[in-house]
Amino acid sequence: MVEGNLKSKELYERAKRLLPGGVNSPVRAFKPYPFFVNRAKGSRLYSADGKSYIDYCMAYGALLLGHAHEEIIRAVSEQLPKGTLYCTPIELEVELAELIHRIYPSMEMLRLVNTGTEATMHAIRAARGFTERKKIIMFEGCFHGSHDSVLVRAGSGAAVIPSSNGIPNEIVQNTIVLPYNNFNALDEVFSKKGHEIAAVIIEPIVVNSGLILPKKGYLEYLRKITHENGAVLIFDEVVTGFRVTLGGCQKYYEIKPDMTTLGKIIGGGFPLAAYGGKREIMENIAPLGKVYQAGTFSGNPISVVAGYTTVKLLKNSEQIYSELERNCKQIANALIDISRDYKIEAQVNSIASMFQIFFTSSPVVDYYSAKSSDIEKFHKYFLELLKNEVFIPPSQFETCFLSTAHSIEDCEITIEALNKALASMRGEK
Ligand SMILES: Cc1ncc(COP(=O)(O)O)c(C=O)c1O
Repeated sequence: MVEGNLKSKELYERAKRLLPGGVNSPVRAFKPYPFFVNRAKGSRLYSADGKSYIDYCMAYGALLLGHAHEEIIRAVSEQLPKGTLYCTPIELEVELAELIHRIYPSMEMLRLVNTGTEATMHAIRAARGFTERKKIIMFEGCFHGSHDSVLVRAGSGAAVIPSSNGIPNEIVQNTIVLPYNNFNALDEVFSKKGHEIAAVIIEPIVVNSGLILPKKGYLEYLRKITHENGAVLIFDEVVTGFRVTLGGCQKYYEIKPDMTTLGKIIGGGFPLAAYGGKREIMENIAPLGKVYQAGTFSGNPISVVAGYTTVKLLKNSEQIYSELERNCKQIANALIDISRDYKIEAQVNSIASMFQIFFTSSPVVDYYSAKSSDIEKFHKYFLELLKNEVFIPPSQFETCFLSTAHSIEDCEITIEALNKALASMRGEK
């Protein structure tokens, strides 16, 4: 039980004195206190308290191949003595760019950066520079990183605050936030302001309000309406890229965005992200054009080696996606069956290797319906799972992720833990 994690408790008390909330990213904090991790391997995290957990957070989706994958570790270890940062070009970054372009042909040109936040920030700037327009559209409950333009009614850790303080009104005014999956809202805003919209940025599948899937035809409609209005359509595939399929949502739904952002999985556990898209947009990036973007650590050899090794591994073993889906379905179906057996009102959304439960009676199709979930129940469910060796993201407004390291046995232990957690909530109102 969390209360028994004495070493973690002691570390948390120390951490709180210097780090806001005791953490370096808000989503890591939970009540009564987070557990501290010593090491991780495969599907498991090993805590400072001597416990181990099957991990369904998987670094918020970054670790599709599990913790400390041997080939990635070997490739990085070979690179380390050759130097960690050159700030001059290397051959492997060209090869990685070519590899990404082959898998994501919509990225006719691209740039490597370090984080998803950077990728979306620069993609939006590129779209504004290209269109010479100011306004962007995003969707309630989507999270595109923690930069000013996209922290308005965002999801993930930001779901607890309507809009971040510290962002000037002038910036907020240029961000239009629409409900996801709502066709009419798109019509309305484009009929009034179509000529002012530089870009529409969307998580094609929302993973930052729990897991929410697009309604049939919604992404196609978005493609059509942005095209008609000259707005740049940005698919934020920081999470869905290399996860929903190797080629992300754009491959799964057969929709070609103007720009794409990638992150998380692409770095194999190291800081790496990318943004890119149509050549005519990307040719505006410095030094070719007047949209400025730069970074000391961009394309650093360690991240590039890790990323290249990861993407190559994924490309050479595409059958992993059906195996991941099979394991995920097994867990999602178990959640549906167990909650029905215990008469707990719940919705379970799942796709590919992602799933989430919501304690609500209404189907979860947008941020509003996600918010109808009973957050206290979710927290109890989270703590009960932890008691039974299973770690999921602590917030309702996140998604659970499987990796190739999750074995059949892990899935069975997990289903047993789900059973115990939901049994403890039986009969609650
Ligand atoms: C869809 C999406 N885009 C962008 C980001 C930001 O990525 P990073 O945390 O690497 O800055 C996240 C982070 O969770 C995300 O989920």
